[in-house]
Formats: sequence, structure tokens, C-alpha cells
Amino acid sequence: MLVHAIPTNATYEFAEDVRDGLTRPGQKELPSKYFYDDVGSALFEVISRLPEYGLTRADERLLRRHADEIVSRLAGPVAVAELGSGSGKKTRWLLQALAQRQRTFYYPVELSRSALAMCERELSDIDSISILGFEREYLDGLLEVAACRERGQHLLVLFLGSTIGNFDRVAGVRFLAEIRRILEPGDSLLLGTDLEKSSAQLLQAYDDELGVTAAFNLNLLARINRELGGNFTLGQFAHAPRVNHEARSVEMHLRSKCRQTVSIAEAELDVEFLEDETIWTESSHKYLAEEIFKIGLEAGFRCEAQWIDQQWPFAENLLIAE
Ligand SMILES: C[S@@+](CC[C@H](N)C(=O)[O-])C[C@H]1O[C@@H](n2cnc3c(N)ncnc32)[C@H](O)[C@@H]1O
Repeated sequence: MLVHAIPTNATYEFAEDVRDGLTRPGQKELPSKYFYDDVGSALFEVISRLPEYGLTRADERLLRRHADEIVSRLAGPVAVAELGSGSGKKTRWLLQALAQRQRTFYYPVELSRSALAMCERELSDIDSISILGFEREYLDGLLEVAACRERGQHLLVLFLGSTIGNFDRVAGVRFLAEIRRILEPGDSLLLGTDLEKSSAQLLQAYDDELGVTAAFNLNLLARINRELGGNFTLGQFAHAPRVNHEARSVEMHLRSKCRQTVSIAEAELDVEFLEDETIWTESSHKYLAEEIFKIGLEAGFRCEAQWIDQQWPFAENLLIAE
């Protein structure tokens, strides 16, 4: 697979974002996109196989069962751009269905180079497929994909795994509207959304018994140590997920077990933590199935079809750009 590598000064931006998030008055924060270095991407793959985390399996079941129908609803020919593809494992079902009707161009857009490499290993055996990875932010990558579309070709954008849930609700609609602005009428967006479920089920999903999600969360501090010369003592922080009923989300935090000061050389930062103070590292918002129609309309899409998994409440939504 060819990869368009990231062009920016990634370490400098990482240091700026860390400084900004950890000096914020009130709640300290770190952006969740920094979870996914090589270690984080590998840990996420393990999370997606844990018995407690049914989300990825539900997404995959829907794609496997309905791939032919999804493809039959698309005006062709179609090129596929996947935002935050991860390993691309579940995307196989769609790409195989598409490859039966046309030569298929697949463009994974990813910040994680190791996820792009997994994608190639996972999918390059599919007949009649060309894969070109973009090591880019979601919208930057999508703009580049759209710029090289051929005349008469439609785009199918995949945003699977309920990654949309990492945005708060207002920012989520804004993000979908940004995608819509890059698309043309008749292009489509297949959007995975995790649906509301009990607090107990959510907490189990984000706090597995083996501690893989805890390691995934703590790896963010380990990454700061590795790449920015930080001196976080990982044993002095604990993975702390919580349900936010008002926001209808699960939040992941890292809780400082004691009063401590941490230095981060590349960010030119000494930061103090009180005992039990937390760093907010990720939110995963949950949806009602009917809410997606409204969100889609607000962003400039009509909902062509929706499929819901029976074992784990999760919806796959096919949205068409109007
Ligand atoms: C929650 S994982 C989902 C992976 C896969 N889509 C799935 O459903 O299993 C999110 C993926 O998006 C990538 N990612 C996160 N923020 C990104 C951004 N701003 N731009 C591009 N990729 C991003 C991460 O590297 C990660 O592989």
C-alpha cells in the first residue's frame, strides 16, 4: 500500500496540545486522538476482542449481514474513504461486496501509521482493490481523497465503530456537516453509532477485568514520557471511567492517586496534581436510534436506511448527501 505520510511537525503539535490541556483551569484534559501510537493502536485491537466490549462485534455483525444491501443502495461507481479506519478488519465485508461489482479504490485516513499498516495486511488480498492510505487528520485526508475523485465517481465515507461518539453532540453535528461540505449530492456516509444501554453494561465495557482499557488509557501518559520527555509515574495514576448521565456518555479519566508534580520537558511544563484530581482523556457519547435521522438532517444528509444489532444496541446508518 502506498501511504501519504503526515507532513506536519507532529511532536510540536503534541507538546502544544498537552500544555494546553494540562494547564486548563478546572478540569485537566488530553485529546483522545493521542491514544493511538503503535502501542495504543495495538491495545485498541485487543479491546475490540474483549468479551465486555461488544461494540466492535456488533458493528462487524451488521456490516457482514448487510454488506450486499448497503452496496445495492449506493449509486455507482464508488470510491471508499474510511475516517479513522483502525485495522480495517470489519471493512472487509463491504469492500468484498463492492469488489464484486467494480474495481474498488479504498482510502483509509488515519493518524496512526501502524493502523494503516494493519489495514494493508488485513485487506490487500481482496480481489480488484487498490489501497492508498492517508496519514492525516480526518477532514484533511477526506479533502485530499475528494480532490482525486474521477468524473462520475461517487464517494462512500465510512465512519465506523461509533468514533463519532468521541465528539460532544454539538461538535458531532458540526463534524458531519464538515464532511457533507466536502461531498457532492448523491455521495454517502455510513455512520456507526453505539446506542444507549445500562450504566452497568457501559462501565463493564470501559473497565474490563483484564485491565486492557486501563492500559490503553495509561498509555497516553507513557506516550508523553516517551515522546515529550515527561516523568509521569504510571503507578501513581488510575484508570477511572464514569457515566455522565446528563451528556449520555461514558468518560474516561486518569485519577492522580496522590498530590504530585510532573514535568514534561518538550512542553516546558511542570504541572501539579492534587490527590484524586483527574485528567479527562475521552468521552464516548451514546445515541437513540431515532436521534440519528435528526442529526443527519441537521448536517445535510437524509437517512436512507438504518440497521440495528439485536445482541448489542448499535446502529449502522446509511446517510445520503442531499
Ligand atoms: C476508536 S478507533 C476506531 C477504529 C475503527 N474505525 C473501528 O471501528 O474499530 C479510532 C481510530 O481513529 C484514529 N483517529 C483518531 N483521531 C483521529 C483524527 N483526528 N484523524 C484521523 N484519525 C484519527 C485512531 O488512530 C484510531 O485508529
